[in-house]
Amino acid sequence: MTASAQPVATFNQSTKIFRLDGGDVSYVFGVNSRGELQQLYWGGRLGANDHFPQAEPMREWASFDSSYTTTPQEYAGWGAGLFVEPALKVTFADGNRDLVLHYESHVVTPDGFDVVLKDIQRAVFVTLHYSMDPKMGILARSATIENREAQPITIEQAAAAAWALPAGNYTLNYLTGRWAGEWTLNQETLRPGERLIESRRGSTSHQANPWFAIEAGAPDENHGEVWFGALAWSGSWRITVEKDQLDAVRVTGGFNPFDFGYVLHPGESLETPEFYGGYSPDGLGGASRILHHYEIAHILPHRMGEGDNAAPRPRPVIYNSWEATEMNVTEAGQIALAEKAAALGVDRFVMDDGWFGQRKTDHAGLGDWYVNPVKFPHGLKPLIDKVHALGMDFGLWVEPEMVNPDSDLYRKHPDWVLNFSGRPRSEERNQLVLNLARPDVRAYVFGFLDKLLTENDIAFLKWDYNRNWSEPGWDQLPPNEEKKVYVEFTRNLYGILAELKKRHPKVEFESCSGGGGRVDLGILKYADEVWPSDNTDPFDRLTQQDGFTYAYTPQIMMAWVTDSPHWLNKRSTSLEYRLLSSMQGSLGIGANITKWNDEEMATAKRLIAAYHQVQKTIVQGDEYRLISPRNGSEFSATQTVNRDKSQSVVFAFIHSTQEGRGFPRLKLMGLDPAAEYALTPIEGNAAKDTPATASGAWWMNHGLDMSDDFRGDFQAAAFRLDRK
Ligand code: DGJ
Repeated sequence: MTASAQPVATFNQSTKIFRLDGGDVSYVFGVNSRGELQQLYWGGRLGANDHFPQAEPMREWASFDSSYTTTPQEYAGWGAGLFVEPALKVTFADGNRDLVLHYESHVVTPDGFDVVLKDIQRAVFVTLHYSMDPKMGILARSATIENREAQPITIEQAAAAAWALPAGNYTLNYLTGRWAGEWTLNQETLRPGERLIESRRGSTSHQANPWFAIEAGAPDENHGEVWFGALAWSGSWRITVEKDQLDAVRVTGGFNPFDFGYVLHPGESLETPEFYGGYSPDGLGGASRILHHYEIAHILPHRMGEGDNAAPRPRPVIYNSWEATEMNVTEAGQIALAEKAAALGVDRFVMDDGWFGQRKTDHAGLGDWYVNPVKFPHGLKPLIDKVHALGMDFGLWVEPEMVNPDSDLYRKHPDWVLNFSGRPRSEERNQLVLNLARPDVRAYVFGFLDKLLTENDIAFLKWDYNRNWSEPGWDQLPPNEEKKVYVEFTRNLYGILAELKKRHPKVEFESCSGGGGRVDLGILKYADEVWPSDNTDPFDRLTQQDGFTYAYTPQIMMAWVTDSPHWLNKRSTSLEYRLLSSMQGSLGIGANITKWNDEEMATAKRLIAAYHQVQKTIVQGDEYRLISPRNGSEFSATQTVNRDKSQSVVFAFIHSTQEGRGFPRLKLMGLDPAAEYALTPIEGNAAKDTPATASGAWWMNHGLDMSDDFRGDFQAAAFRLDRK
C-alpha cells in the first residue's frame, strides 16, 4: 500500500494496537495486558504492514519498584503505584484519591480516534481525542474528563496529553524570557528528574512559552531526530519533561496543577486544551518548518466567508502610533502620521493606546471604552475616513480585560476584578484584572467591543493585556469552586473572540501582552498576528526573532521599524538595517515618521515596495536559520524558500567585524538543485564575481559571497533569487 493510500487511523482488533500515520510520521499505542493504554512508538513513518504485538507493561526493575512508573501510559491516572507525573489526579467526595484508568472503548474519527478510558471501579470516564494531520504528521491530542458518579469530584491535575520517548540521550529545547527580552532559546542536556516549564501567571507569560523540542543527541539545526510539541492554552499552563530511572522520557502538559481545582458535578465534564506534537528527522530547522506550515494551514484563523481553504494572507504592512505619540493621541496628530504612512506604501494605520476614557497616562481610563471627547471631538469617524481616503484600512488598540481603579467602570463595579474579599488588591501598571470568568464581565467586554466594531469601520484590533494575575479569587462561587477561574477566564476570552469573529468576519486581531506575553496555539486560533516584544531594537530583535521562529511562523511575527537611537539600548542603527531586521517577519513601521526627511522616506518607500513583492515567500515559505545570532555571534542570516521553490529571500546581518574579517560565504538551502535562479540584491551587493544567474546546486554548494565592503558594525544585506 502506498503511504498516501494508507488510512490515517487503523486499529488492530486482535493485538489491540492503534496506529496513526501522517506525513513522514507514525504514532502507535495499544491496550496492554493490564488494560492500560500504552504508548509504543512515535517517530519516522513505518511500513504499512509492520506489525506490533499486544503491548505488555514494562518490566519492574527492583523488588520495590513499580511497572506503573516505567510503563509509558498514554494518559495515566494518579493511583495504583504511579510515581511519575500523572495526567489526571482527582479527589472523590468520600476522600478516595485512587484513580486507575483502563481502556473501555473507542471510535474511529475522520483523522484519528476517540478512545474512552474508565476508572477500574468508579464512573469517571476520560475520552482521549487523537487527530493526525495526514500531510505534516502533527498529532493533536486532548482529553474530555466526565464525572458520571453520583457525587462531585475535584480535578486537581489535568493534562491534555502525555508524550513518551524511549531511553536515550536527548537535548531539551525551550523558550524563556522577560518583558522586552522574550524568546530566548535554551538548549540543555536532559538529565534524570523533572524539568518544569510553566506559567503560574494566569496567562501564557513572557517568562516561558508552552513549546518544547527534544532532540536525539546534541543540538543540530539541520540534522537529527526532533520531537516537538506546543500547547494550545493561554491560561496558566505546565509542561513537565521527565527523564525516569530507566532514562525514558515523558512530557506531560496541560492546565497548570499549581493552585488548580476544578469541581465536576455529576454529569459534568471538563475539556482540556489541545497539545500538538510532531516529529522531524531534519533537526530543529526541519521541526520548525513543519510547525510553521501547520500553524498557517490549521491553527491561524482562515478568512471567514471565503471558503474553507482561504488560508491566511500575508499581513498588511502596518503603521502603529505607539512609539511616536504614546498616549498623546489627537485627531490632527494621527492624521499627520497617517499621511506620511500612506506615502510610504503602508497598508494599515493603527492608533494605539490613549484614545478612550480619561486616558492621559497609564493611571486612568482602562475600562471606559468611550472615545475621549477632547482628543477626538467628532469621534473616530474623521480619522477613520481620512485613513480610508489615504488608501489604508484602520486599526485600533484595546485592552479589554483590564481596569484602572481610576475609571468609571471600577467605581461602579469594584467587585468585577480578580480579588480575595477584604484583602489588598495588588496593582501592576496601575491596573487590575477584570474577572472575565464572570458572566456579567464577559457580557460587558463582548458588548463594548461589539459596539465599537459595529459603529466604526475598523479592520483590526490590537488586543493588549498588560499585567499578570494576582489574588485570583472569584467570590461569586462557593469557596471550593473558585479555582475554576483558571479555566473559565480563558474559555471566555476565546468565546468572546470567536463571537466577535462571527459577527464581524472581516475584523482581524493581534494578540499583544506588553509584548510577547500571550503567544500560544490557543490564542492563535483567533489571533491573526502577535506582537512578539516591546523591544523594537533591530539588533535585539534578531535574536528574539530567531528564538520566536523555533515555535511560531514569521507570518504572525510583527516587527516594527522604530526610531534610532533606540529608547531601550540607546543603540544607533541605519534605517536600512532596521528595515531589513523587521522585513524577516511581518513588517510594520512604528517610528515618528513626521520627523523623517525625504531621504528616509525614499529609503523606507523603496524597501517597503521590495518587501511587498516577496513577502509571501518570507512569511509563508520554508525558513532556514542559516547562521544564528545567538551566543554572541557576530554574523547572522536567514533564508526562506517558497513552497514551489521558485523564489527565495536571503537576509544577512553583521553585528561587528574585527580584524578585517568579512561575512562568511552563505551556503543556501532548500532550492531546486537543477533549476536556474537569478540573484537580485534588495539591499547591499554580492561579491563582484558573483554570477547573475546560477543553478540551485551552485547557490547551495558553492554559496553566496557578500561584497568586499560588507563589514563593520550593524550592517545588513538582503537578496532575492527567482527561478528562471
Ligand atoms: C504594551 C504594548 O506591547 C505596546 O505596544 C503598547 O501597545 C502599549 N502596551 C500601550 O499601552
